[in-house]
Amino acid sequence: MPSAIALSNASRITRRLRNCDACRRWMVYRCFSQFIGLRDIEIDGKKYATDEWTNTPSSIVSSVPRRLHLQKDHPISITRQLIESRFPGYRTHNTLFPVVTVNQNFDSLGFPPDHPGRNKTDTYYVNKDTVLRTHTSAHQADVFRGNTSDGFLISADVYRRDAIDRSHYPVFHQMEGARTWDRSIIQDSKELVRKIWDDVAQLPQHELNVSDPNPPIHPERNPLQSKHHMAEEAEAIAAHLKRSLENVVVEIFAQAQKAQQAAGQEISEEPLQVRWVEAYFPFTSPSWELEVFWQGDWLEVLGCGVVKQDLLINAGVPSRVGWAFGMGLERIAMLLFSVPDIRLFWSQDPRFSSQFTSPFPHDPSSTIAAAAPSSFSIKPFTPFSKYPAAPRDVAFWLPSTSSSAGGRLPTASSVHENDVMELVREVAGSDVEDVRLVDEFTHPKTGRKSLCYRVVYRSLERTLTNEEANGLHDSIRKALVEKLGVELR
Ligand code: PHE
Repeated sequence: MPSAIALSNASRITRRLRNCDACRRWMVYRCFSQFIGLRDIEIDGKKYATDEWTNTPSSIVSSVPRRLHLQKDHPISITRQLIESRFPGYRTHNTLFPVVTVNQNFDSLGFPPDHPGRNKTDTYYVNKDTVLRTHTSAHQADVFRGNTSDGFLISADVYRRDAIDRSHYPVFHQMEGARTWDRSIIQDSKELVRKIWDDVAQLPQHELNVSDPNPPIHPERNPLQSKHHMAEEAEAIAAHLKRSLENVVVEIFAQAQKAQQAAGQEISEEPLQVRWVEAYFPFTSPSWELEVFWQGDWLEVLGCGVVKQDLLINAGVPSRVGWAFGMGLERIAMLLFSVPDIRLFWSQDPRFSSQFTSPFPHDPSSTIAAAAPSSFSIKPFTPFSKYPAAPRDVAFWLPSTSSSAGGRLPTASSVHENDVMELVREVAGSDVEDVRLVDEFTHPKTGRKSLCYRVVYRSLERTLTNEEANGLHDSIRKALVEKLGVELR
């Protein structure tokens, strides 16, 4: 039994807590979160405390154990192996846990405090200091710190709150790659530059049609890190980076074309075109994106650049210099295997999964990039059926709040489009193919804003009945009112 003194002490503390604004909010939150059972969140067997930043729904948590990039014969895994085969000898890190600190995901990479990527609307927070990684770059600093190889590749699941359509899913996969050279074992800058160019000469040659109109360094748009690098060093690093990645693209698109041809699909007579465009990332400079002209459009395949020296210095390897890249695996897998909808990668329907066989050995615990077999071909996906789409519209007024002047002001910012997307996914799961804003209107007198979204329901595995589509749509309408406070029209 607690003594009377202990009790009165406790109540004094509680009273003091109650008088402090932040403490009161915290207590209300703790009480509320205990009440709705939000105290801890368990992600793949690990427990995390939640707080007012927590916004990771259970549907996302349940994707964590899937690890599509390591699943035998899965197209995401085959795509990973195919890319790895272009980096023989690089060390692979393919089992890094997806829960990382805000420091790993953003700070260590030099993201400014007000960078939009840090917003709760864009990122899944486990709590204030912890997120589901939004990119594989979250592990760059740690792997550089480990200092176990000159070249490394990191493949992993990454998480972003995003739109719903056939090429976006809130969980997807990326591969990060980096190659560095250690100055401390080389005499001087001249020798370093010579060594890097020697390594460029060792890379396979290709006959790709590459457009690269910009100089590797541009003082405003794509600056040299002049405090740390000589121009000749950055140029040599850039040359090694570009040739290495062009070789990846040559392989991917040669395989994609071969697959399409073998499947009797029409292929373009035009030679493959790729182009380098200047880019910006907080953790590389200069930086580029590589784009490929594919089926009538320029497709962005990857981002890359010369690693910011501050990152390497902070990672305890100040004498290393080099490059890094990051690329999404889904987009590449979709074109390699002619997969029309990103949701299919998550399907456990054997009509999907039984269609693929990896030409590479299955060894998820391997830590070294393996070469490709001497000859193999990829078989495109044969759609098992296309079930009918059920489009339904929902129109609503955004919530209004009273302004200090007593009028009603629309608070467009109170509902973020990604909140709508997530709510739809929470209700309809993978039975929703596309969500699109089709109308937007502001009332001339009241100033209130109305939005109309078209939700396209379509199962990948069966025909949805009218009643099912209506039922899902009704639940979404209700949830929009209850969770986002909108007024249905
Ligand atoms: N992490 C970046 C992204 O997700 C890609 C990138 C990786 C860019 C490494 C440069 C270097 O967009």
